[in-house]
Amino acid sequence: MKKFSIVVAGGGSTFTPGIILMLLDNLEKFPIRKIIFYDNDKERQDIVADACEIILKEKAPEIEFLATTDPKTAFTDIDFVMAHIRVGKYAMREKDEKIPLKHGVVGQETCGPGGVAYGMRSIGPVIELVDYMEKYSPDAWMLNYSNPAAIVAEATRKLRPDSKILNICDMPIGIEVRMAQILGLESRKDMEIKYFGLNHFGWWTDIRDKEGNDLMPKLKEHVKKHGYVPDAKVEGQHVEASWNDTFAKAKDVYMLDQKTLPNTYLKYYLFSDEVVEHSNPDYTRANEVMDGREKFIFGECKKIKESGTAKNTEFEIDEHASYIVDLARAISYNTKERMLLIVPNNGAIINFDPTAMVEIPCIVGSQGPEPLVVGSIPQFQKGMMEQQVSVEKLVVEAWAENSYEKLWQAITLSKTVPSARVAKLILDDLIEANKEYWPELK
Ligand code: NAD
Ligand code: G6P
Ligand code: MN
Repeated sequence: MKKFSIVVAGGGSTFTPGIILMLLDNLEKFPIRKIIFYDNDKERQDIVADACEIILKEKAPEIEFLATTDPKTAFTDIDFVMAHIRVGKYAMREKDEKIPLKHGVVGQETCGPGGVAYGMRSIGPVIELVDYMEKYSPDAWMLNYSNPAAIVAEATRKLRPDSKILNICDMPIGIEVRMAQILGLESRKDMEIKYFGLNHFGWWTDIRDKEGNDLMPKLKEHVKKHGYVPDAKVEGQHVEASWNDTFAKAKDVYMLDQKTLPNTYLKYYLFSDEVVEHSNPDYTRANEVMDGREKFIFGECKKIKESGTAKNTEFEIDEHASYIVDLARAISYNTKERMLLIVPNNGAIINFDPTAMVEIPCIVGSQGPEPLVVGSIPQFQKGMMEQQVSVEKLVVEAWAENSYEKLWQAITLSKTVPSARVAKLILDDLIEANKEYWPELK
């Protein structure tokens, strides 16, 4: 059996140790011969790499391991690039969240002006990763979950149309895990789903068990009362109080269209005013993550290094990230697994822009994804998606053309922003904060 070689781009990510443990747990399904970490912050990556090296020595000493900041070393002899970079790191996420909030607008990692700012930072570096891959390992595939995935996906579609990059998000997976729990199923894979939308902007239209029985009525009954909060405790990712609020809020989002079940991110667009009221402009999710996940991960890594063993580590296998293995297997073994991916619409949603990057079910095989036909979508969702996809396309155009006007239009069009005046105030603050990262706008 062929063994694969992978580079983790963004090796210093807080998600890296959990993903490495997940990969080690899946070696029978997806054998690995080499793991390389690549990052542009050596100091940050080294902390994670030193710990992961010990984990690998203890669990799979046959796997070759190295960490580097040199693109040629990182991208040579690679089958898969697993990309999760955060351009500007948490310091810039904090600004993405706080600057809009200062002007009374939603401050969020991927939604609204914060997502636009993050997108402007991410387009260049993600394209750089694609170019390294194509230069040093032209047969490799990139599995990208770097955010903001919607804007990054549109940028690669437009600027690198032939590149072998698959954009995927774990939010629908996280929600489906909760749905399965609500339904009393063992696994989300016991459900067959239909879904359409943009990334962080979509709806389930059909959910059935493997026998074809409709599970939507039971789910709707629950979501109407509790959102996506199951009766029993949830383990793993997205468990903090602020995430719980988001899952609970799905009950109000659901009321707007009771034929479908919504992605949790829609709350930022449909209940923007409430979100702002409930936000603390001095302490946002970035602060929560820095004080929580980041401290924990880096603390554990240092402990492993100091003690020279990972035997007593509190790191857990990131179960939910096993979708990455499903995707790599689909490409490597032509499994034809059905997965939600962010792909060019190309007619799948009949009454929607064929050039839009949409999140829809695809059959994934060695040739990549084959999107399934969605058909026509209702006016409500179509209207919202047309507005949002225009935001995403205008950001990419603004980046490619250095256009202040187009970026102003993008922020103005976001449903989270009340007027062109407020959009301009936010934009001017964002330009100042992102000087180091954005192209200069004219
Ligand atoms: P993090 O800041 O802990 O890690 C990101 C790493 O990327 C850092 O070590 C940083 O130095 C590195 N980096 C930044 N710019 C780089 C560049 N140009 N080249 C190489 N490395 C670079 O962030 P995190 O919270 O662990 O998240 C990582 C990414 O994964 C983010 O984009 C986040 O939004 C994304 N994410 C996506 C999903 C999804 O569903 N798609 C789920 C979780 C996280
Ligand atoms: C979900 C989304 C990701 C996002 C993450 C943020 O998993 O799908 O795209 O990056 O949430 O989580 P955090 O814990 O960093 O706020
Ligand atoms: Mn996501």
